[in-house]
Parts: sequence; C-alpha cells; structure tokens
Amino acid sequence: LDPVLRSTGQKGRWIRVAELNSLSKDHPVSAPVVGDQVDAWTKASGVRLGTVWLRVLGDNKVECFNAECPHLGCKVGFNPEKQRFNCPCHDSAFSLDGQVQGGPAPRAMDSLETRIQDGHVEVRFMRFRAQVKERIELG
Ligand code: FES
Repeated sequence: LDPVLRSTGQKGRWIRVAELNSLSKDHPVSAPVVGDQVDAWTKASGVRLGTVWLRVLGDNKVECFNAECPHLGCKVGFNPEKQRFNCPCHDSAFSLDGQVQGGPAPRAMDSLETRIQDGHVEVRFMRFRAQVKERIELG
C-alpha cells in the first residue's frame, strides 16, 4: 500500500509552498510540497512530499486542499471548464470547495491550514488515511 500509508515523518509541519501573488481567486492553483522526509533513522532533504491546491478566498486568506484523493491516494486534478476537481483513477469528483460530487471517494478533499508569511503561503502539511469516511492523520 505504499505510498498510501506513508507518513512524512514530520506531522503537521509548516511548509512554504507558493508566493501569495501567484495565486488566484478565480481558480485553484497547484503547488508542490517540498521538505524533509524522515523515515526511522534516515532523513532526506528536498523531497517532494505531496501536492496541494490553493485558492485565494479573501485578504490574506487562502484555501488549501491536499491533492491526494481520499479514495486511494491518486493525485486529484482540476477541470477549469467544469470548475471542479476530478480524480483520474476512479473518477471521483469534488466541488470547488472540496465536497464529494460523485465517484467512490468516501469523504471530501482534505483541507489543510494555511498562513501567510512574508508574502508567501505556508501550509501545515499532513496526509490522511485513504478509504475511510473520517479524517485520520498519517502525519
Ligand atoms: Fe481517486 Fe480512486 S483514487 S477515485
């Protein structure tokens, strides 16, 4: 089941993901999450830990979703024509605010805390267990 159950090893750490002025109110923008991967005795720097979708909601307020599908962990994309998120693996669909609109996903997209620091968006990055209705933190 790797990487579905893999933890980042650094539960809920704040990670800088984008410049605030590179984002939009009109549509979500994807950003890579890059940080340290800690696994037992090893630590690797500059590892891609995941992807997030970001959208400006208002002054200094940014909405963020982990791009991992809550069904089986595929990377969810955004369809600008339909203004919704779609998972390419088993066709789950999510509204702009992350709610399930169809497909086998057991819950909404996982939202993440954000904050603005020096004109950059930082995300409290976490992963969650797939295939369950509840949000269960993996780290
Ligand atoms: Fe997304 Fe199955 S992994 S619908």
